[in-house]
Amino acid sequence: MNQQPNEVGRKIVVGVAGGIAAYKACHVVRDLKEYGDEVRVVPTAAALNFVGAATFEALSGNPVSTTVFDAVEEVQHVRVGQEAEAIVVAPATADLMARVAAGRADDLLTATILVATCPVILAPAMHTEMWHNPATRANVATLRQRGIIVMEPAHGRLTGKDSGPGRLPEPSQIAELVRTVLDGQVPSYTWEGKKVLITAGGTQENIDPVRYVGNRSSGRQGYALAEIAAQRGAEVTLIVGNVDELPTPAGARVIRVVSTGDLAAAVATHAPEMDLVIMAAAVADFRPDTEATSKMKKGSDEDSLQTLRMVENPDILRTLVVDRAAGKLPASMVIVGFAAETGDDGHSALDLAVAKLARKGCDLLMCNEVGVGKVFGEKRNRGWLLARTGEPAQPTVVEIEDGSKQVVAAQILKAVDALTESADRAARS
Ligand SMILES: Cc1cc2nc3c(=O)[nH]c(=O)nc-3n(C[C@H](O)[C@H](O)[C@H](O)COP(=O)(O)O)c2cc1C
Repeated sequence: MNQQPNEVGRKIVVGVAGGIAAYKACHVVRDLKEYGDEVRVVPTAAALNFVGAATFEALSGNPVSTTVFDAVEEVQHVRVGQEAEAIVVAPATADLMARVAAGRADDLLTATILVATCPVILAPAMHTEMWHNPATRANVATLRQRGIIVMEPAHGRLTGKDSGPGRLPEPSQIAELVRTVLDGQVPSYTWEGKKVLITAGGTQENIDPVRYVGNRSSGRQGYALAEIAAQRGAEVTLIVGNVDELPTPAGARVIRVVSTGDLAAAVATHAPEMDLVIMAAAVADFRPDTEATSKMKKGSDEDSLQTLRMVENPDILRTLVVDRAAGKLPASMVIVGFAAETGDDGHSALDLAVAKLARKGCDLLMCNEVGVGKVFGEKRNRGWLLARTGEPAQPTVVEIEDGSKQVVAAQILKAVDALTESADRAARS
């Protein structure tokens, strides 16, 4: 179900453990509250060394305690644990994860988690060495086996001058994952070891040092796909053109490009080692045939801005399909395309997408009806997911209902699962 903000009021526990990123929990609380959820903050005693209880009480509108021995008459850990519809711990320290993995219940947060039967999401934050330590790796594996969602930490600046994996995922991503999970799209870790390449954003084709031809793509859908694929345990490479200011999806490696030519080259370099390629970027079909070295002038002669000669860009999606058929890419690789269509006088957006799927020959095609203020830059999406069948003009079409781009991403990845499973069945029979 896809509810709009302020219609929700779901009971969410935000646990906060004692890491330097504890202050970012305030943003998670605020994001969830602004969406209309009811939030109860349960910090550890160590967390209160970083942020005071007053801050969490004021932001959540609920009292804060750290121990099962406060308000004993209410048996808080049982009540809070039973009532919670989701528990999210941000940041989850190495210590907190070790305690949860061991089934400890030595404070209100761990006791609440032990009581709860709702989804539990841990957003880790720690130094890279702690994250890579075999003890932490084993704890993460145990937690995931038990159905606890452990987010991949982001790469980036840690406390002090260090940099690497271990940074708390952005609060907006954490809050969005809570909503995605509450919408029934629970990430599973079945994609561990899977290599996924995703492209996102719009390309820019330079006219001169000042101007370019571009498009309105924000990159949000590609980023959401990267986020959800990484949450499922995949090794994600995200090739990014021009995008809105978006937080780097936790767990994804980001490669930045400018033009369609750059994007084509980056895809060609990385595709051979991939199990799945999702072309969510809005690539320019044409580019100016030459890039002027100095700013072009107005005027009406052939070399002025009034006449731009355009040449066709490489068709990256079609090239992937052709290369796979030619054995240059793994035969088992799944290729997903996107069609941003407006429809025209004679055809609906869906008609055009059916034709595009037949032309490109990819396995799945996500069709969005786009336009000014529609899909591009929005946080939500909808459309149709087309899957190739033996009859190119008659793909199977599944309507994707309006939902956050994360929820839409989760549905696209589920369709990839269905495709892989049926290919595996066919190979076995
Ligand atoms: C300044 C400072 C920063 C810390 N940051 C982290 C951190 O980011 N991640 C982590 O796992 N532990 C961190 N620790 C260590 C934890 O605070 C310590 O392991 C504590 O026992 C965690 O308790 P808790 O899991 O009950 O909150 C930090 C400690 C200090 C003093």
